[in-house]
Formats: sequence, structure tokens, C-alpha cells
Amino acid sequence: MLGEACPTELQDAGERLSVDELRSRQLSLLQATVRRAYANVPHYRAALDAIGFAPDELRELSDLRRLPFTTKKELRDNYPFGMFAVPRTEVARVHASSGTTGRPTVVGYTQRDLDNWADLMARSIRAAGGRAGDVCHVAYGYGLFTGGLGAHYGAERLGCTVVPVSGGMTERQVDLIRDFGARIIMVTPSYFLAIVDEMERRGLDPRDTALRIGIFGAEPWTEQLRTEVEERSGIHAVDIYGLSEVMGPGVAQECVETKDGLHIWEDHFYPEIIDPVTGEVLPDGAEGELVFTTLTKEAFPVLRYRTRDLTRLLPGTARPGHRRMQKITGRTDDMMIVRGVNVFPTQIEEQILLIEGLTPHYLCILTRPNRLDELTVQVEATPGLTDPRTAAAQLIHRVKERVGVTISVEIVTPHALERSLGKAKRIKDNR
Ligand code: DLL
Repeated sequence: MLGEACPTELQDAGERLSVDELRSRQLSLLQATVRRAYANVPHYRAALDAIGFAPDELRELSDLRRLPFTTKKELRDNYPFGMFAVPRTEVARVHASSGTTGRPTVVGYTQRDLDNWADLMARSIRAAGGRAGDVCHVAYGYGLFTGGLGAHYGAERLGCTVVPVSGGMTERQVDLIRDFGARIIMVTPSYFLAIVDEMERRGLDPRDTALRIGIFGAEPWTEQLRTEVEERSGIHAVDIYGLSEVMGPGVAQECVETKDGLHIWEDHFYPEIIDPVTGEVLPDGAEGELVFTTLTKEAFPVLRYRTRDLTRLLPGTARPGHRRMQKITGRTDDMMIVRGVNVFPTQIEEQILLIEGLTPHYLCILTRPNRLDELTVQVEATPGLTDPRTAAAQLIHRVKERVGVTISVEIVTPHALERSLGKAKRIKDNR
């Protein structure tokens, strides 16, 4: 079930660049970015001075490795506007992370940054199979979160009819999708499941709607979930990646015709993969933590920003110049260490979806009775499940076999678990 490739003549000039063209463009953009960050952001000036690095010493892309990393801590320490590289009066918009732990991180955009972002989002939606004239239903949250407005301006730029619903009020989402004839939906995969559940509850087959493309991101999701969603709803499910510190959605996008990982838009962002413990740069193909340096951002350039996301870099396919990143396995902070074994919620999701009668609504609960970590997975049954015991035993067995940990499983009734309107919370740590 492959989607239609985007004809080259519809692709923009940056998207069509070859690897060689990209490398030389990246070098000059990187040199300019480092110079600008050094000149305008006290933090970067101090960080480069501390290692005795003058911006002019950056002569090749590999010199980037000499620069220190930037982490969320530096962004927090410079709250709210200390990392901006332009005067506040040139900042056309700010966004911020939710800040569940400590201060939020605030990011800013000049008008040109917003323009580039809209272009990259338009490119991403097109790569996902969207076209001018499509009705595009945006159910990512609007507001300080970058999902809603990022998707919104990109879809407008592409020439879509945008329905700016934001998250929540699931019944109304279903009405609008049906009545307005959306062909594209942009939403977190977990909230899309809630929307499909609601359609089915009302006896509406998602296949009878006009929906054909789901552009899903903001949280990790698996190939197994793609299969499940595509079979249930008859759409193409494609992955979109981004983070507010680097821009927002549209840093990388999966192409509908290949669905083989996400092309990083390398004319605007330079990726590296590092060993999360030693910080050493790893070769393409090796798994590690993704690090980004922005190449065109004016208001909020970041140098070697550690995303905490785990993936690997692969050569480009549908857009040969731009490297791909494999679907994200998880974040280093979401890694559960259960009696010494590293486990990500995505690994549990993969196994759940291979068992008949279980749904992708699940929660990993960590406890530590008797000073030993225990992982209990609560997972919702489908309404038709008659033998929960066998399903639980199968899941325990599969996780032991494939992931290497012993878990407990509680099968709960349909809709027992709380639904998120945006990013799903997959871990509850009661230790
Ligand atoms: O989640 C931006 C976004 C909005 C991306 C809508 C895609 C769609 P933040 O709130 O700053 O920004 O969170 C960024 O979310 O570091 C990843 O851990 C995670 N994330 C984003 N996209 C994906 C994805 C937005 N496709 C953090 N797969 C990132 C896995 C993702 N994780």
C-alpha cells in the first residue's frame, strides 16, 4: 500500500539538492551560524572562549566536533530570552516547551525564521502525500506548543484548506472530519487512535471518510502501530519529527512512497549521532543520541543541541541528498532500567500489537517493592477479548523473549486508561 511519490517538479530547490551540493552549502551556513552565535549570544561566546575556539577556525564540517554541546540546562539558565541572537524587537513569535520539570524553555523566531518553517512544513506535508487544495485537519495543540501553529502555517503555505481544530473535544473532531472532508490529518498518533475509537463508537467506518493521510509525530510510535492504524482506518500513516529547540515540527519527514524513516532537511539542520555517555561522534548507521546544529535560524540558533532522542542516520532514499533518521526508539529520559535491562515503551508497544485482542492503549508502571524494580504494563483489551489471561501470558512471554525482562501485565477494560489529547504519557514511575 504505497502512496504516490511527489514528482520532482513539485519539489522545492532545497529538497532536490545532492549530497555534494548540501555539504558545501552546509559548510558556509555553519560558518555563518557560528559567527553569528558567537557575536550575539553571550552563552556561545563564553562557551567558545572557554575552549579557545575562534569562529574563523571552523574550516570543515568536521571541525564542528570541537564545539561544546548545548543542552536544555543552558537554555533554562538563560530563561527567558538570553539565547536569542537578535534584539527582542526582531522576534516575531515565541514558543515554549511545557516545562513539566523546572522552567520552560523559550524559543524565538524572526519573520524569516517563520517563513523558512512554513516552507519546510509545506515540503514535509507534500512529501507525506499532501497537495494544494486538500482539506487539512490540524489536531495538534495550538499555543505555545509548536505542533499546531507549525502545521497550520505549513499547510497554508502548501495551499491546503486548513481546519485549525487543535486537540480535544473528540466528538467534534469526528464531526468536522466527516463534514469538511479532510484528506489530511495532522495529530499525535495516540490522539488519532482516540479519534478513530470515537468514530467506531458512533458506527462510522473511518474508511468511509475522505481521510487518506495521517502525519503523525511529537511522540514515539512503532512500525506495528503504523500497520494497525493503516489497516483500521485505510490511511497512509507517515512520521514527522521536530523539536521546539531546533524549530518545531518539520525538521525531518518521512516520504509516503517509501515509509522508510524520516528525511532530515539538511539544507537547514546539520545532524550528528553521538554516544550519549562519552559524547563521541558515531559514524552513520550507528545508534546513538541525535544532535542538531541549526544552519539558517536567525533568532534562535543552536549549536550541537543534544535532543536526547535515540536513532541512527541512514543514507537518503526518496530524497537522495538528505540523510534519513530511523524512527525514534525513545528518549534517553524515557529509558526504563528494569533490573539492569534497558527498556523503552516502544519495545513494549511492538509486542502488545502482535497479540490478538490487545490495543495500543497502554501504560508502563514502575515500582520498587523489596528494592527491586518491577514493571507492570496495563493494557486495554479490545471489546471482543474473551480470554484476558491467555493474552496477558502471551505478552509476558513475548516481552521476556524479545526484550529480556520479566513484566507483570494487567489487562484492563476498553477505555479504562486515560486518553491524552496530545503527547501520550507512557510511563508512570512510582519508585
Ligand atoms: O513535539 C514538535 C512536533 C510537533 C513534532 C508535532 C512533530 C509533530 P517538543 O514539544 O519540543 O516539539 O518535543 C520534542 O518530542 O525531542 C522527541 O522526543 C519527541 N518527538 C517529536 N516528534 C517525534 C517523532 C514537538 N516523530 C520531542 N517520533 C522530541 C518520536 C518525537 N518522538
